[in-house]
Amino acid sequence: MSRTRVIKIVFYSLLIAATSMILRSFMSSMSKIPVQTSTSKHAIVVGSGIAGLTAASQLVARGLPVYLLERSAKPGGNSIKASSGINGAPTKYQPGPPFSDKSFYEDTVKSAGAVISIARKQRESLISTLTNSSTDAVSWLVDNKGIDLSVVAQLGGHSFPRTHRGAGQTPPGASIVLTLLKSLKESPLFNLETSCQVTKVLKDGSDVTGVQYSCDGQVKVLHGPIVFASGGFGGDAEGMLAQYRPDLAGFPSTNDPRHGSQSLLTEVGAQLLDMDLVQVHPTSFLDPKDVSNPVKFLAAEVLRGEGGLLLRTGKRFINEMETRKNVTDAITKVAANSVSPRQWEVELVLDEGVYNNASSHIDFYVWKGLMRKTTASELGVEAQSSIEEYAKAAAGHIVDPFGREYFGHWKLRDVLPDSVVYVGLITPAVHFTMGGVIISPHSEVLDASSKPIKGLWAAGEVTGGIHGENRLGGSSLLECVVFGKIAGEQAANYLEGI
Ligand SMILES: Cc1cc2nc3c(=O)[nH]c(=O)nc-3n(C[C@H](O)[C@H](O)[C@H](O)COP(=O)(O)OP(=O)(O)OC[C@H]3O[C@@H](n4cnc5c(N)ncnc54)[C@H](O)[C@@H]3O)c2cc1C
Ligand SMILES: *[C@@H]1O[C@H](CO)[C@@H](O)[C@H](O)[C@H]1NC(C)=O
Ligand SMILES: *[C@@H]1O[C@H](CO)[C@@H](O)[C@H](O)[C@H]1NC(C)=O
Ligand SMILES: *[C@@H]1O[C@H](CO)[C@@H](O)[C@H](O)[C@H]1NC(C)=O
Repeated sequence: MSRTRVIKIVFYSLLIAATSMILRSFMSSMSKIPVQTSTSKHAIVVGSGIAGLTAASQLVARGLPVYLLERSAKPGGNSIKASSGINGAPTKYQPGPPFSDKSFYEDTVKSAGAVISIARKQRESLISTLTNSSTDAVSWLVDNKGIDLSVVAQLGGHSFPRTHRGAGQTPPGASIVLTLLKSLKESPLFNLETSCQVTKVLKDGSDVTGVQYSCDGQVKVLHGPIVFASGGFGGDAEGMLAQYRPDLAGFPSTNDPRHGSQSLLTEVGAQLLDMDLVQVHPTSFLDPKDVSNPVKFLAAEVLRGEGGLLLRTGKRFINEMETRKNVTDAITKVAANSVSPRQWEVELVLDEGVYNNASSHIDFYVWKGLMRKTTASELGVEAQSSIEEYAKAAAGHIVDPFGREYFGHWKLRDVLPDSVVYVGLITPAVHFTMGGVIISPHSEVLDASSKPIKGLWAAGEVTGGIHGENRLGGSSLLECVVFGKIAGEQAANYLEGI
């Protein structure tokens, strides 16, 4: 017998002994678990936002083991920050006669706009999957998971109130993330590995077979079907954002500052679309205590909508009621106040009338140090006279030079040096990336010939095609739940050979 042969035999017998030992202890520790088709099979989910947690929940509900890999130390992604809520129509919480809301699909198609980067039919079937499944998605969270989503608001672009959140203090993103995570952690089938970054998707021929990942420098490999739920690239200011939208390079974001992971999928044949379609929010706060932090807090739209005005070096420069895009363009037309992050300094000014209409928001911002209560004179002579002119327009004494017609709850008439105002500094920030990998309505990642890549599904902001030019508020959490469930279900079928 050759020496290498001996080494091989010794090696393999050791391997078999070790494997059977591990298997035996594994089986005995699993003996309390309900019957499973096979303990050696498991699925892999990449990303622990709402899309990944939903997919993992679906797999665990099917009795299948799942490994959830998350590069951050803490799970939840950008999902944990979502504050407006999740869309559903029709639901039992919507006001008005039951089932009156039939226009969610039409509103979404309209908002997606004219850009047709995939076949119209393909986009429309993604949208109808999204909207048709919205009733079930909300009821799964409420009735199956016990999450409170009883308060419904109407956001811009929606014909009816359909964005659901809870009645308590916990924002909807956090309550969904924390509840799904808690319920997953109760199952021995669930394995969460944080601080573990997926670095490569492995392929055998045309099938995806697993991932390579790195946990604190230690490289590991896992085999199994994969659900990719790695989120968008809004926080990748110098990377993907600079690549696809050079005009937005270096912008601050409401997202965490992390690299996009879409390239891991294109390396195995996935296709991208709409990568240049990026939602920018015109008003996010500069925190005076931490001005250059690239992560920003949103200043709610109501502040502007219900009477707030914008000042640049003490002067107004736009009708604040124009679209998000127009307001952003007006702010970014002049040179930025800082390059890293690339941001501007615009004052958002409110009076006590606006305060009274939005006090819950404003109290929070004041508490956070993002807004302060002060007097008109403290803002300087120029600002005080701009506020005076605005107040005259609001009172109907003059025509607003910028064409503003609606002044909301602004009530200050005679602007005096000691008139009370609330003020915060704002800048535009990147909020959401509409583009991503192309999926089928079954969440399959499609290749260049529009064929599903076997063993690979995707859900959430990492995907593109549903929102087109503009995502409706509340529809990204919805896509996470709808396509996360589909992806989990599909991966489970694949594991079970269905
Ligand atoms: C402040 C804020 C408020 C918002 N409010 C709303 C709202 O009210 N309603 C709404 O519908 N939408 C809202 N959105 C948008 C919505 O929150 C996101 O689009 C959505 O949560 C994305 O979920 P996701 O699961 O796809 O990704 P995420 O929640 O971002 O999770 C992706 C996870 O994948 C991990 N990951 C990425 N790459 C890798 C890798 N290679 N290896 C391992 N892990 C990786 C990331 O670290 C991250 O944790 C808001 C967004 C922000 C920032
Ligand atoms: C969604 O529902 C409508 C109306 O019932 C139906 O015509 C459409 O085919 C459905 N779409 C999907 C993807 O199930
Ligand atoms: C936004 O700007 C465009 C181009 O200047 C203009 O045509 C449009 O009317 C503006 N939108 C609003 C709501 O004012
Ligand atoms: C603020 O004003 C709007 C529009 O006038 C109104 O619908 C809303 O109920 C008001 N909110 C509060 C808290 O006063």
